[in-house]
Amino acid sequence: MKKIILLTAVFILLIQCKNNTTNPKQASKTTGFIADSAMVVCAREEAAKIGVAILNKGGNAFDAMIATDLALTVAYPFAGNIGGGGFMVYRTKDGKTGALDYREKAPLSASRDMYLDAEGNVIPGKSTLGSMAIGVPGTVAGLFEVHKKFGSLPFEVLIQPAINLANNGVVVTKKQANRLNKYRKYFTQANDHTILLDKEWKEGDTIKYPKLAETFERIKENGKDGFYKGKTATMLVNYVQKLGGILTKEDLEKYEAKWRIPITFTYKNLKITSMSPPSSGGICDAQIFKAIEPFDIASYGHNSEKAIQLITEAERRAFADRSYFLGDPDFVKIPIDTLISAEYVRKRMSDFSFDKATPSAKVSHGNIIGFESNETTHYSIVDKYGNAVAVTTTLNGAYGSKVYVSEGGFFLNNEMDDFSSKPGTPNMFGLIGAEANAIQPEKRMLSSMTPTIVEKDGKLFMVVGSPGGSTIITSVMQTILNVYEFGFGMQEAVNAPRFHHQWLPDVITMEPKGFSATLIENLKQKGYHINQENTRIIGKVDAILMLPNGKLEGGADYRGDDKAFGF
Ligand code: GLY
Repeated sequence: MKKIILLTAVFILLIQCKNNTTNPKQASKTTGFIADSAMVVCAREEAAKIGVAILNKGGNAFDAMIATDLALTVAYPFAGNIGGGGFMVYRTKDGKTGALDYREKAPLSASRDMYLDAEGNVIPGKSTLGSMAIGVPGTVAGLFEVHKKFGSLPFEVLIQPAINLANNGVVVTKKQANRLNKYRKYFTQANDHTILLDKEWKEGDTIKYPKLAETFERIKENGKDGFYKGKTATMLVNYVQKLGGILTKEDLEKYEAKWRIPITFTYKNLKITSMSPPSSGGICDAQIFKAIEPFDIASYGHNSEKAIQLITEAERRAFADRSYFLGDPDFVKIPIDTLISAEYVRKRMSDFSFDKATPSAKVSHGNIIGFESNETTHYSIVDKYGNAVAVTTTLNGAYGSKVYVSEGGFFLNNEMDDFSSKPGTPNMFGLIGAEANAIQPEKRMLSSMTPTIVEKDGKLFMVVGSPGGSTIITSVMQTILNVYEFGFGMQEAVNAPRFHHQWLPDVITMEPKGFSATLIENLKQKGYHINQENTRIIGKVDAILMLPNGKLEGGADYRGDDKAFGF
């Protein structure tokens, strides 16, 4: 008898173990880092700890943003940057929201057809690798703009931890070693000498960045001019021009970050504040949420066939509009109010049916009168005072253009690829752009970065964002839905398998192993094209949820080395 009981117990245990490892939803039942009042969630532990140390000193979320951002330049050169740009969406403790645009700009001598050959065809790689791919960096201007408006601690205090980190070095993680080794051949192609990172790395190695520490010292000493003028500007411009690039000192001197009015919309009793153009994120997500709102999506079940169909069809239509209407608002007129109105979106969804897919070939942009990467990075911060900051920042591709200013210790972006090199031809994320996103001197390229803050019943509810090029938009939206409609905790919502549709190509990209064979077969029967093979990571979400007991739960994406810290 004892033997039978023992065997039964072992059998049950085995079944449970099997379920835990094969059922993604079950496996994702975890709680993220919990803090009482303040938190930073970002791509690297070192940067999160530096941000939290600033919060601990009494600094606010904006101070922590500056310190975290600079620390990511050191600890996460894959996307953290002073040679790139980004967006910040904020909500202050008294409920005021706003947005800062420090997106890169096209250089003054950029021109519409600069990436085309004599036959008018796109020259492969010219907008992605090397000196011609570089847009005028915006990050340092952005950080000083934030400091001027909201900083409470001296800039010198905020930059010092990054200087120390650069001098003391960063320990290479397994994922980081893999990435560095994967991209090594491009470092050689893009530069005229062997750069610091151009060697075979292994987990546990330490990388020190003394030249970057010197650049930070110049910024500490001279403010914004420590980057955009003087020694740093000279070394940057000289090197880019030596490689054949078009960036000039005038480009750097003229760069300014801009405060923007964010996109704000409601979804049931949520108020969602997200990034406005030149990002497409806020408008696309507003359209997707408005398209879903009339349906009882919670009753369909998380990642169920009906939920996937509804979300996919909403995404398809939103991305078709993105391609046609969106670009830099300083250069093109965008009918924002109409695009995000419930009436317009519902008209766009009027031909949607649960019976079969709407082929993208039949979906164009709406009738109104009148591409990107995983290599971006996002961080979310809440301070003890109640201020919240969502920042997404990027070099565009992994290590940007791969051009490394060795004298200054930093990579430069390849953000020019986010323009439509040739309207109608896809960029590196397969995104098709139109005239609205054609290249013009000093224009900002269209982005998908979607730093987002969600309020529920008038109170701060969630801070969320992701890297992932076009998949940023869908990852942010699904994470919010996972919590609000499907009752997930923050970490669970981040862990849940994601899928993505962007109109063209007409395919639903699904995370491998996250969806059952039956579900996929049923979707195929309805005319959906599914891609589960060789898919890149769909987003890498770092988010914070305000819990009903007043504490904070972090969601740090296991898809990277991401970490949440706080107190
Ligand atoms: N470079 C990625 C984005 O801006 O969306």
